[in-house]
Amino acid sequence: MPIASFHFPKGFLWGAATAAHQVEGNNNNNQWWAWEQQEGYIVNGEKSGLACDWWGGRWKEDFDHAAQGGQNAHRLSVEWSRIQPAPDRWDEDALEHYRQMLLGLRERGMIPMVTLHHFTDPLWLDDFGGWETEAVVPLFEKFTRKVVEALKDYCSLWCTINEPNIYALSGYAAGAFPPGKKDLRLAMRVQANMARGHAAAYRAIHAIQPEARVGYALHYRPMLAARPGFPLDRLERNILFNAINMAFPTAISTGVMRTPLGKVRTPEAKGTQDYLGLNYYSVDSVTFDLRKPGELFGHRFYPQGSDLSDTGFIANMPEGMFATIKWAVNSYPGLPLIVTENGIECADDHIRPRYLAQHIHQIWRAVNFNWPVKGYFHWSLVDNFEWERGWTQRFGLWELNIRTQARRKRPSADLYAEICTENGLSSEMVQKYCPEVFEKLFPG
Ligand code: BGC
Repeated sequence: MPIASFHFPKGFLWGAATAAHQVEGNNNNNQWWAWEQQEGYIVNGEKSGLACDWWGGRWKEDFDHAAQGGQNAHRLSVEWSRIQPAPDRWDEDALEHYRQMLLGLRERGMIPMVTLHHFTDPLWLDDFGGWETEAVVPLFEKFTRKVVEALKDYCSLWCTINEPNIYALSGYAAGAFPPGKKDLRLAMRVQANMARGHAAAYRAIHAIQPEARVGYALHYRPMLAARPGFPLDRLERNILFNAINMAFPTAISTGVMRTPLGKVRTPEAKGTQDYLGLNYYSVDSVTFDLRKPGELFGHRFYPQGSDLSDTGFIANMPEGMFATIKWAVNSYPGLPLIVTENGIECADDHIRPRYLAQHIHQIWRAVNFNWPVKGYFHWSLVDNFEWERGWTQRFGLWELNIRTQARRKRPSADLYAEICTENGLSSEMVQKYCPEVFEKLFPG
């Protein structure tokens, strides 16, 4: 057996990612909670409920697990509706709660990365149109100022908005997220307002904390034409690729958002990123499909024989991680990159060890070209509420029993702990946790 290891640069960030609504519990003042109370939107009618009970204090147990597992960073989000429960009211206790959490990370030797917006909006904001109008921009800026003033002693790595593309497309084009609208034009307007909100937040953070590093997390979806010799598949692949991946990045790099329905000017967004966050999960195959006008005549799927997650939501396609990083490096030469999310749903953990090892191997390949990847955040630390998929998908390194709140370690947590502690992936680890991919990672 070859003895080899893939090492990462000193100071590489190793962590897990979470989001407020998915872990805190009883977040009953935002639009997702309201959506969960209505019938027909969440699989099996499930609700976020107590979630992982972080608001009740169980973050301590989970942060202990992360720290004991060698993680030196953690990405979490703050909940706007807790901090600003009404337009004219700030909740100082909520801010103190977050301060304690960030202090808790620091005390455990973990660097916090804070996301300001991760899919949820206060009900009061939703009531007057959320991100549909530009009126949201100064409101988000004000919220950002309040948070950064309160937390700046503990955090200097900020993620303004998580997956603006998914928020806009799922909520306003596909209709799977609240408010369940199906209007592509509106989805693009929402995304443009998010670019403006991001830009305002970027400047506000730097005004308060000049040394801050500020970016956003893009859900990046590599795509392949299902039949490469078939021009319509290739065309369709490009249409969907641009529609899903490119609107937000073009706004940030050029100040003009390019959407399938035309260009939107967002000059204030140009150049507002100190790093790019990449959320990479899987690769789509695309065919042209006349029956899908609502999806711009494209059908996305995983090829037969793919290594699929429990519900078929994710296929294990590690080479897509490399492609994602390569795209970012070519688009933004020199810009630091952080893998802000990557993971797979698998309750019995039979796929996760190989998914983890193979994806980290691809990041290592990128790092070996001196591409500036600065960190990796696994989604997620512990099973949590998976939006419209409720509790049917289990993404945690740790398993959660929702009824008892008991946590149980999955083998992947041990593998990840070895990776974080070693600052690399070794042949011994692969042999121990996922021997089925040993030959792929260490051929010969
Ligand atoms: C989101 C997370 C989510 C994960 C897995 C990402 O799109 O940012 O909130 O839990 O995917 O579905």
